[in-house]
Amino acid sequence: EEVSGVRASLLEWYDLNRRDLPWRMSGSEGNTGNAQEDEDEEEEIDRRAYGVWVSEVMLQQTRVQTVIDYYNRWMLKWPTLHHLASASLEEVNEMWAGLGYYRRARFLLEGAKMIVAGGVGFPRTVAALRKIPGIGDYTAGAIASIAFNEVVPVVDGNVVRVLARLRAVSANPKDSATVKNFWKLAAQLVDPDRPGDFNQSLMELGATVCTPLNPNCSSCPISIQCQALSISRKDESVTVTDY
Ligand code: ADE
Repeated sequence: EEVSGVRASLLEWYDLNRRDLPWRMSGSEGNTGNAQEDEDEEEEIDRRAYGVWVSEVMLQQTRVQTVIDYYNRWMLKWPTLHHLASASLEEVNEMWAGLGYYRRARFLLEGAKMIVAGGVGFPRTVAALRKIPGIGDYTAGAIASIAFNEVVPVVDGNVVRVLARLRAVSANPKDSATVKNFWKLAAQLVDPDRPGDFNQSLMELGATVCTPLNPNCSSCPISIQCQALSISRKDESVTVTDY
């Protein structure tokens, strides 16, 4: 039952410590049975997916603190996918100025046009999302789990480090075979009831507690299950920092 212990501890920690970020809107309340309200609800889910998409693309090379301002400005200018789809590349690049990797801004614009042209709303699964140019495994997993509750993993650099320590795996985190193994491990761990929150709890833990240097193990919700910590307590030649 170690997996369910890890899930429960991470989610409890996340509920208490999650940062209040502008793209973390409150979740859906479920269908009401009222046709008009359910339609509004569908629109709300797509709006949320759009926000998650924009924020996750911005977060790929940029720290959370910096992204907040860019995200808020972007959402004021293009509050929905439909607004974005009618923007020009010049406008989008101008809005992106300072974030770097302008290709990402162009992919957002082209993706928005493609989704709107499709006429069936936001793609809701990893398989469908992966067909949008610029949406890779990471972004597809983030959108599908956070906005649509698909039970899929998300692995970024922070997650690799957390999982490597949890299981005391020493391997080159830049190696593609290694990363593939962490996707497999993350798929086994992801909470089936709250996949989006679970994935964000891992990312958040890596960013704030399970940091590359001097991890704050005494405030870690899964320190009891952490194999790297357990080893380093027994063997001074190994430290949690080595992962
Ligand atoms: N880093 C990138 N995406 C994130 C998210 N959704 N939550 C926390 N950290 C993140």
